[in-house]
Amino acid sequence: MADATLRELADQHGLTVGAAVAGDTLRNDPHYRGLLKGEFNAITTENALKMGELRPDPNRFDFADADAIVSFGEVYGMSVRGHTLVWHNQQPDWLRPWERTDDQLEQFLRTHIHTVAGRYRSTIDVWDVVNEAVLDDGSMRETVWYDAMGEAYIEKAFHWANEVAPDATLCYNDYNAEGMNPKADGVYELLSRLLDRGVPIDAVGLQMHALHEKPDLEAVGRNVERLQELGLEVHLTEIDVAYPDADKPEHHRTAQANFYRELLELALAADINTVVTWGVRDSDSWIRSWFPDLTDDPLLFDKHNETKPAYDAIVSTLAETSSEGSQSARQP
Ligand code: G3I
Repeated sequence: MADATLRELADQHGLTVGAAVAGDTLRNDPHYRGLLKGEFNAITTENALKMGELRPDPNRFDFADADAIVSFGEVYGMSVRGHTLVWHNQQPDWLRPWERTDDQLEQFLRTHIHTVAGRYRSTIDVWDVVNEAVLDDGSMRETVWYDAMGEAYIEKAFHWANEVAPDATLCYNDYNAEGMNPKADGVYELLSRLLDRGVPIDAVGLQMHALHEKPDLEAVGRNVERLQELGLEVHLTEIDVAYPDADKPEHHRTAQANFYRELLELALAADINTVVTWGVRDSDSWIRSWFPDLTDDPLLFDKHNETKPAYDAIVSTLAETSSEGSQSARQP
């Protein structure tokens, strides 16, 4: 076991290692706060910046949770990732698109992005500007925003974010697009089109929810390479590992640790500068309420705030891997 914490090792490698954070838990649980500030150098707002959470009624923004998370990140010198400005999910119940014209919906989204990204222009370092715009077959998802503006909603969103937060890294984020498949192709082609049109997009987030089967990391490596060849940073933004090992369920935690290790090795080899787990402790994970049939221990810490073999695997990998050639070593 290495003596250094995950955060210390990540800093040595110039690697951003984050976790998704819930506002309530942050306020109420000192163990959670201790793990976050001790073990991670970055945080992502899990739900607090989603439109539905921010806008409980038509005339009001509620920034309380988002402010708490962003302040925590600032106080403890962490990079803060805002998730997310545009999504088809977790939208306000009161937003009834059929009562608005397309132009009104466009102005609504513009005002939303200007208000939210503008508020945090100096405190949020990275934005998941658009989340999950592509379907599994590679076609565009027909959302409220797509219906009103067509595919143009995506580039408009990036331009609006860039207008008010010009220093932030702007990211497109999606799931099931990690390896080589029709959805990954659709995302790749979308990003190529956006870049050809000069849209200010800096990064692509591959979520990496390893839920049902072990991802093919060789295919992930090839996809990462082609995305980087477009000139984009690639981030792993929502990692959790819950796929069952049907043959040897008793070895689940070892297999899980091995996968975390292989994934980190891929990230280091491919110069991926950001890896984020979707939560801190198993008990904080979204998975148990969404997929009760899956293993409910997808993260690096258990419900008692203790490290797991998955944590040991990534810490020892970082400790054993030279930071030469990693991001920090190349900075002037
Ligand atoms: O805020 C309400 C609260 O007022 C209410 O009392 C409570 C009762 O169930 O529900 C609360 O809302 C829940 C919200 O999380 C906050 O806890 C929603 O029901 C629940 O659906 C929501 O789940 C979130 C999910 O996104 C929604 O799709 C998960 O926490 C969150 O981890 C998950 O995150 C997504 C990423 O944003 C995008 N990628 C996939 C990822 C996993 O689904």
